[in-house]
Amino acid sequence: MASSSSLHFLLFSSLILLFISPSFSQQSFRPKALVLPVSKDASTLQYLTTIKQRTPLVPISLVLDLGGQFLWVDCDQNYVSSTYRRARCGSAQCSLASANGCGNCFSAPRPGCNNNTCGVSPDNTVTRTATGGEVAQDVVSVQSTNGFNPGRNVSAPNFVFSCAPTSLSEGLASGVVGMAGLGRTRIAFPSQFASTFSFQRKFAICLSSSNGVVFFGESPYVFLPNVDASQLLSFTTLFSEPSAEYFIGVKSIQIGDTVVPLNTTLLSIDSQGVGGTKISTVNPYTVLEDSIYKAVTEAFINQSAARNITRAASVAPFDVCFSSTNILSTRLGPNVPTINLVLERNVTWSIFGANSMVEVNQDVYCLGFVNGGNNPRTSIVIGGHQLENILLQFDLATSRLGFSALLFGRQTTCANFNSTSVA
Ligand SMILES: *[C@@H]1O[C@H](CO)[C@@H](O)[C@H](O)[C@H]1NC(C)=O
Ligand SMILES: *[C@@H]1O[C@H](CO)[C@@H](O)[C@H](O)[C@H]1NC(C)=O
Ligand SMILES: *[C@@H]1O[C@H](CO)[C@@H](O)[C@H](O)[C@H]1NC(C)=O
Ligand SMILES: *[C@@H]1O[C@H](CO)[C@@H](O)[C@H](O)[C@H]1NC(C)=O
Ligand SMILES: *[C@@H]1O[C@H](CO)[C@@H](O)[C@H](O)[C@H]1NC(C)=O
Ligand SMILES: *[C@@H]1O[C@H](CO)[C@@H](O)[C@H](O)[C@H]1NC(C)=O
Ligand SMILES: *[C@@H]1O[C@H](CO)[C@@H](O)[C@H](O)[C@H]1NC(C)=O
Repeated sequence: MASSSSLHFLLFSSLILLFISPSFSQQSFRPKALVLPVSKDASTLQYLTTIKQRTPLVPISLVLDLGGQFLWVDCDQNYVSSTYRRARCGSAQCSLASANGCGNCFSAPRPGCNNNTCGVSPDNTVTRTATGGEVAQDVVSVQSTNGFNPGRNVSAPNFVFSCAPTSLSEGLASGVVGMAGLGRTRIAFPSQFASTFSFQRKFAICLSSSNGVVFFGESPYVFLPNVDASQLLSFTTLFSEPSAEYFIGVKSIQIGDTVVPLNTTLLSIDSQGVGGTKISTVNPYTVLEDSIYKAVTEAFINQSAARNITRAASVAPFDVCFSSTNILSTRLGPNVPTINLVLERNVTWSIFGANSMVEVNQDVYCLGFVNGGNNPRTSIVIGGHQLENILLQFDLATSRLGFSALLFGRQTTCANFNSTSVA
């Protein structure tokens, strides 16, 4: 009798264990890092990523916005979720989002339209449009990684984001429903993932003209054939002011063996937040203030002429183009003068041909920089083409940017992350 009842008890408890252990192990799994896939849209040149959101989970396509404030999503179309929760005015989510005010909505309640809910100002940084949107929370699911491959999927159950009207997505690539902000705010992806999964406020981007990746959390960041790009970094200071965006200090620009004469006032950020250099994934090409543009292109043309590289007619949006006749191909791209950005802490970011030149057709390469005119807010905006196949690590805790040299030099690319899941 006694033995039979204890057998019953044993069976019963092992049944309970069987029943609860899968969910328990999922809860207790703490990823060291996460990985998001990135692709480049050929028609808009926007970098896109996909996450899963809502209950049931659906994949949503977003434009990657390095300096963006937070995740915003079109809630007006096809937003169906049993776990959507608006942020009640005065709640912790509202203060985390630095929300501005408390709103009501005078139609039937639905995601994006609720009473007594705080709001923020989501912006489309491609078209430079902003609107109001309600702050909300929902489940977000992404893949963890050991740095070599994607691993099991993990969920952030209360991921804070902003709703936006459908109109805010105008100008974004086809199929895109919002933007993924990686900026320096408490609700941008890096900080929310770091607090949800208890890892360092650190992330890395590696873009390419095909498939790239974003890593959140600790390295390694490995690309086939077994190149850990986190071991290849030089470090410079990251400035957080004047916004959620990422600024670095360019001290001078050298092309070939000459120092480009520049008005150094433009290189620093004044008390109004004007000037300086930022990194952007929403600008397809680097944008230079007019006087910097003229000085850089003149020096580049001179240095190219010294190598018998001859000018060709302009091809929009570029002014400075060259015949490919005397341009040799190398592992680091077309063999043109190297553009060196000398940065804070005296480290040099070398821009080789693969990043400086755009092959507009078989016979012509153009310098992939554009003129930002007089008095732009930011003097130098380093854009997507100049970031491709370089690993950039943003460490928010120590305000450091780590950047690798062009990965082609290590015989790998940002498209070489092994996407075979080992979950
Ligand atoms: C908000 O409150 C007003 C007034 O009570 C009501 O007419 C409206 O339907 C409510 N809206 C939502 C979205 O609940
Ligand atoms: C994890 O997410 C990825 C990407 O969204 C998906 O392809 C995969 O099927 C998911 N795996 C599981 C076990 O749900
Ligand atoms: C340098 O740039 C600053 C800021 O635009 C401007 O006020 C100043 O006049 C410029 N100096 C020269 C020598 O052009
Ligand atoms: C470019 O070359 C021209 C003619 O040789 C010279 O006058 C000019 O100073 C040079 N500019 C730069 C920036 O090297
Ligand atoms: C440039 O062309 C001239 C004339 O064809 C030649 O003498 C010179 O060696 C060439 N220079 C380079 C750097 O190729
Ligand atoms: C900066 O680095 C270069 C080369 O690495 C060196 O020649 C130069 O002296 C350094 N300048 C300063 C101010 O440390
Ligand atoms: C990618 O990773 C998988 C799983 O670890 C491995 O089996 C495969 O060989 C890797 N691919 C390459 C090209 O190394």
